[in-house]
Amino acid sequence: MKIFIDSANLDELEKAAQTGMIDGVTTNPSLVAKSGVSFEKLLMRICELVPGPISAEVTALDAPGMIEEGRKLSKLHSNIVVKVPLTDAGLKATRILSQDGIATNVTLCFSPIQAYLAAKCGATYVSPFVGRLDDIGVAGMQLIQDIRKVYQNYGFTTQILVASVRHPEHVLQSIMMGADVATIPYNVFTKLAQHPLTEKGLNQFMADWKAAGLTL
Ligand code: E4P
Repeated sequence: MKIFIDSANLDELEKAAQTGMIDGVTTNPSLVAKSGVSFEKLLMRICELVPGPISAEVTALDAPGMIEEGRKLSKLHSNIVVKVPLTDAGLKATRILSQDGIATNVTLCFSPIQAYLAAKCGATYVSPFVGRLDDIGVAGMQLIQDIRKVYQNYGFTTQILVASVRHPEHVLQSIMMGADVATIPYNVFTKLAQHPLTEKGLNQFMADWKAAGLTL
């Protein structure tokens, strides 16, 4: 499974990129607004930091506007993926942008039928928001399983990009379910390698080594 970082914070992205484990980045209008950097400048810097797919979201609400913004965004860098909301207008725009050969990420997906439509329109990625479903008492990860089944049934190649990830358990379940990508907030990413028994075991090894006065 590919690991994307869900952030528009350049410090976080730089630290994440240095681990060598990051395959791409997703942003959204809220994250970009929080970054305090102009959209274009931010995207160019992210493209320098992470040599993989970088999702940049359109803000127009009508299809012609989304198509115009999407074409503009895609010209900024060959790694830009145009992020489009899962609305009727967004699906229309996805179809046209996909026909133009522009990579798309259909976002704000909350049902298997929505994911089916995104794939039918040629989306490169679909982003089911698991955490926001959990927030309203619906099992978010069940959606990933359902989309996987729908895509298998029809041989769709749209990649399932698990979004709205809140904790390492979401990441583990994504791997177990065979999701193509999980986009992970930096604070969750830093928790993935941690285990209390690893820390405890290492402390014991170091204490024993020191007590015996050994050197390499
Ligand atoms: C995905 O691309 C979105 O940016 C993101 O995962 C939304 O997550 P949130 O529900 O934590 O805002």
